[in-house]
Amino acid sequence: MAIELLLVLTLLVGLLVSTILFSAFHSKLPPSPIALPIIGHFHLLGPIIHQSLHKLSLRYGPLFSLRLGSVPCIVASTPKYAKELLKTNELSFTSRKHTIAIDRLTYNSSFAFAPNGPYWIFMKKLSANELLGSRTVNAFISLREKEYLRLLRVLADKSEAGEAVNVTEELLKLTNNIISQMMLGRAEEARAVIREVVQIFGEFNVSDYIWFFKRLDLQGFGKRIEDIHRRFDALVEKIITEREELRKKKENGERERDGREHQVKDFMDILLDFSEDENSEIKLTRAHIKALIVDFFAAGTDTTAIATEWALAELINHPMVLEKARKEIDNVVKNSRLVQESDVPNLPYINAIIKETLRLHPPLPMVARKCIEDRRIGSYVIPANSLLFVNVWAIGRDSNYWKNPLDFEPERFLPKEGMGMIDVRGQQFQYLPFGSGRRSCPGINLAMQELPALLSAMIQCFDFKLVGQRGEIMDGKNVVVNMDEGPGLTAPRAHDLVCVPIARLSSLDILHP
Ligand code: HEM
Ligand SMILES: *[C@@H]1O[C@H](CO)[C@@H](O)[C@H](O)[C@H]1NC(C)=O
Ligand SMILES: *[C@@H]1O[C@H](CO)[C@@H](O)[C@H](O)[C@H]1NC(C)=O
Ligand SMILES: *[C@@H]1O[C@H](CO)[C@@H](O)[C@H](O)[C@H]1NC(C)=O
Repeated sequence: MAIELLLVLTLLVGLLVSTILFSAFHSKLPPSPIALPIIGHFHLLGPIIHQSLHKLSLRYGPLFSLRLGSVPCIVASTPKYAKELLKTNELSFTSRKHTIAIDRLTYNSSFAFAPNGPYWIFMKKLSANELLGSRTVNAFISLREKEYLRLLRVLADKSEAGEAVNVTEELLKLTNNIISQMMLGRAEEARAVIREVVQIFGEFNVSDYIWFFKRLDLQGFGKRIEDIHRRFDALVEKIITEREELRKKKENGERERDGREHQVKDFMDILLDFSEDENSEIKLTRAHIKALIVDFFAAGTDTTAIATEWALAELINHPMVLEKARKEIDNVVKNSRLVQESDVPNLPYINAIIKETLRLHPPLPMVARKCIEDRRIGSYVIPANSLLFVNVWAIGRDSNYWKNPLDFEPERFLPKEGMGMIDVRGQQFQYLPFGSGRRSCPGINLAMQELPALLSAMIQCFDFKLVGQRGEIMDGKNVVVNMDEGPGLTAPRAHDLVCVPIARLSSLDILHP
């Protein structure tokens, strides 16, 4: 009897001690809501994750923690913590979580998801200096301007016919065509499979988080991934092989007949040059090349299209801003020609509109990283392998750092105004549309040249009339664009932007010289 009592007592004390130890360990994590078994905090997340995390931050503070399935996460929602994590402790947070789909579709060779190491450093340099540096970006100006013109002609035809355009769709086509031609020298045939690759990249797979489901394929993803992978691989394999043959012919001095001779080197040529370079620090393989193509498609297509769409929607809802923007454009081009990328430095108000759009509608609403080692932050300890989410969206709408944060006021970003000093490169932590530090976006030059030029060209030539479709709301007697956000890894619009373009007086002459 006594022994049994002793046993029970020991057990109780043991339990108590382990509970205390457990909570002592856990109290080092930032504050956290109560978790459920197995799923952790998944039940607290709605379809629009950055919004759910913002609401939780109001309750649990600027740095709180969650457990998604078995994966610990921390969420930072102020510039102070953004800086502390992305700058002060940058080297602890230089990794990202990848998923089964990403590994498969990037041949285990993604650079956007590679850990900080020789391969990532090599690819980052290659991207910054060769592929997405301003020299290469400028070399493709005429290619991009052809695509802007193609879009404007689609709008002009619709305008003549008085028909509505699915602007969402046209913008996706345009950004996809541009990146596709810059990389591969062609566009059309790649579009369908590329869309599927980009989509499955952003889809959420419970199996990646919950060990319990590791062996189940509840959503039937496995088969879809294999199917997409097979089709994508066949396509790039064909493109690479054709290009290699072309290069061999060229080496043998045969003249090309397809007129590509005088064109700029596209990314495929640059990458193949590197892969043939015996002295390169990293031997670029075929898988590396294919993976980079997937990376750039995934990172560069939707982001750019979504940003343009949000900007246009804001302008439709703010006629005064639109008027002011047009005056600036008309002043620069004197209405005698179409606005061009080279005009962008002379369009401060348009640039402010783009910055303001990226503040309210950052296409990637959260900077997502992974912690590679136990890291002390103030009195907290962030365990290795935790995921970090910096809620860029929430920080951009915080009234502690922005005046009238929910209003669309591009003026705030004009050179002489309060926020005029803030640039897009992640030096100021209340504004991080392209992330910050060495892991920040290498596509920034391209995006910040393309976005203002494209938006300017669209509003120089057209007014956009809403047609009373789904998602539009009546505001007094005016129809306004519904600005709700939809679910997704990027922050897309909940409702596609569909409107009838109305040609402005002289614009048709500009388009049909
Ligand atoms: C409006 C357009 C764009 C926005 C808002 C955007 C935003 C971002 C953000 C927030 C990140 C994560 C940064 C971080 O972790 O600190 C990122 C990474 C990246 N972006 Fe962009 N991006 C855009 C366009 C592009 C384009 C056009 C390309 C390429 C063609 C591109 C390629 C990449 C790549 C490769 C990474 C991963 C870099 C790394 O992990 O080292 N992005 N982007
Ligand atoms: C990718 O890596 C995983 C484990 O790291 C491995 O099981 C898999 O076979 C690799 N896949 C490819 C295509 O190399
Ligand atoms: C517009 O295009 C998008 C993208 O292709 C498509 O998903 C959507 O259904 C279209 N919306 C409308 C209203 O036609
Ligand atoms: C989801 O997880 C299952 C099971 O591990 C896997 O077969 C599938 O490929 C994954 N899909 C995605 C999109 O990650």
